[in-house]
Amino acid sequence: MKDSFGREINYLRISVTQRCNFRCAYCGMGKPDTDELTPAQFAVFARAFAKAGITKIRLTGGEPLIRDDVADIAKAVKQAAKPQILAITTNGFLLEEKAADLKAAGIDAVNISLDTLDDECFRRMTGKDALSAVIRGLEAALAQNFDRVRVNTVLLRGVNDNGAERLVDLAKKYPVDLRFIELMPTDGDKTYRERLIPSAELLRRFPALSPLPAEEGAAVYYAAEGFRGRIGFISPISKKFCGGCNRVRLLSNGQIKPCLGQNEVYDLLPFLEDENRLYEEIRAAIFKKPAGHHFEEPTGKLTSMNQIGG
Ligand code: GTP
Ligand code: 5AD
Ligand code: SF4
Repeated sequence: MKDSFGREINYLRISVTQRCNFRCAYCGMGKPDTDELTPAQFAVFARAFAKAGITKIRLTGGEPLIRDDVADIAKAVKQAAKPQILAITTNGFLLEEKAADLKAAGIDAVNISLDTLDDECFRRMTGKDALSAVIRGLEAALAQNFDRVRVNTVLLRGVNDNGAERLVDLAKKYPVDLRFIELMPTDGDKTYRERLIPSAELLRRFPALSPLPAEEGAAVYYAAEGFRGRIGFISPISKKFCGGCNRVRLLSNGQIKPCLGQNEVYDLLPFLEDENRLYEEIRAAIFKKPAGHHFEEPTGKLTSMNQIGG
């Protein structure tokens, strides 16, 4: 369906948990609400969202693989909503053991968050000595032949920005797209610009990249000769893409969050037993989706990414 600004909303991000096994500083790690929907409840929601026009669904967190029943959630959601694409975004730590189950459950595409290829830097950024486990997770995902495997990187000035070249080489070694995401402020963080690296600045470090035709989604892609994957840039700060936004979020506790960058949420849980009412409430919430974020002047309090799912 279209929202009040005429944007076609067809992409639902479902955060299945707010809990996470990493502690990435840039995500803000707010206290997780541990009331979490069951696979059957997610399925009811997903069916109602599909009726409202959702054709792509991504499971997020917190860290979605922390839930033992994540494959059951995937299966239930896929069966209920029959999306064209069912994807997942994970930190990769548990991916080696879960990749086959996810594939069998009907997951089509996997995004893995990975900010550095240096063991010590990885430990400092995530609180866990887990780089090799994440690389094994990436390789396990590739072995499952998902339609697409992508890596998401957030570069922070003075923290991991000197590792960008090594990360880019991942797209040379593996058939994966490597995407750099500009840092967004969480939880009222007013100093994030000191750590933010604008995409244009980063791009200047890679003169051999050549632009590819624009495609749907937040990322702009580039090709490099001899590379198996592409290099992407997601620039919510320097090239705000809210005008073309196609997404809404369902949180792990049954709230709908129409915009990542705004605090409004609406509780859908009371309508779980009545699918028609649920559908109407979803439409009403989508219609209230704000024009976009105001990260350029982060005065308000944005909840942390683990609560929203990015
Ligand atoms: P693809 O389906 O592979 O294109 O992935 P995606 O970009 O939809 O999802 P992913 O979970 O990999 O998110 C990539 C980055 O984009 C994360 O840093 C998100 O926080 C950011 N992002 C996702 N959705 C939004 C959004 O609606 N607004 C803004 N500003 N950033 C977003
Ligand atoms: N700014 C930009 N991206 C973020 N992510 C988490 N927190 C932030 C932030 N403050 C990214 C993660 C993950 C995706 C879902 O969101 O790296 O890949
Ligand atoms: Fe869409 Fe809001 Fe994200 Fe902008 S900040 S892209 S409007 S969800």
